[in-house]
Amino acid sequence: MTRRFEGSVAVVTGAGRGMGRAVALRFAGEGAHVVVAELNPEHGAEVAEEIRAAGGTAASVAVDVSRTEDVARLFDEAVRVYGVVDILVNNAGIAVARPILDYTEADWDRQMGVNVKGGARSSISRRRRPLSPRLTPRWPTTRAKARSGK
Ligand SMILES: NC(=O)c1ccc[n+]([C@@H]2O[C@H](COP(=O)([O-])OP(=O)(O)OC[C@H]3O[C@@H](n4cnc5c(N)ncnc54)[C@H](O)[C@@H]3O)[C@@H](O)[C@H]2O)c1
Repeated sequence: MTRRFEGSVAVVTGAGRGMGRAVALRFAGEGAHVVVAELNPEHGAEVAEEIRAAGGTAASVAVDVSRTEDVARLFDEAVRVYGVVDILVNNAGIAVARPILDYTEADWDRQMGVNVKGGARSSISRRRRPLSPRLTPRWPTTRAKARSGK
């Protein structure tokens, strides 16, 4: 495995099992500090421990991405522990366990609250925190160039 994310900070939502867990383990294996953001606190803590046991660095934060205050706390904690967030993987998602034709309004709201608003909320919350020096130069420079017409 390469170490192409050495020293980067990666937040992975829904990382307590399944694909999120696999993504978290892979980032850690490639050198990233990983924040395991997970609804189920035990699963999140287990994955963070699994990463540390393999020689990586990880912290777990219990979070429900459908709750604004949880997401704010997640990124506050990530920045407190690691200083910045370089990478966000919006993996957390749910599927209501019934045929889509039978979805109630509450089912739709729950699913969209996690799958759509949860991802958007996390991206916005992350963008409001300090950017990594690794990321800062490119985006503002491109915008500044566009504004100046050069
Ligand atoms: N597995 C598939 O075939 C498939 C297909 C299409 C899309 N997806 C999407 O890919 C992602 C990962 O799929 P998976 O099969 O690994 O899912 P999974 O159900 O195995 O794992 C999802 C993880 O997200 C966590 N989670 C759920 N709601 C959360 C919330 N509100 N806040 C924080 N964490 C939450 C769960 O506790 C769980 O640990 C999901 O978004 C899923 O909808 C999966």
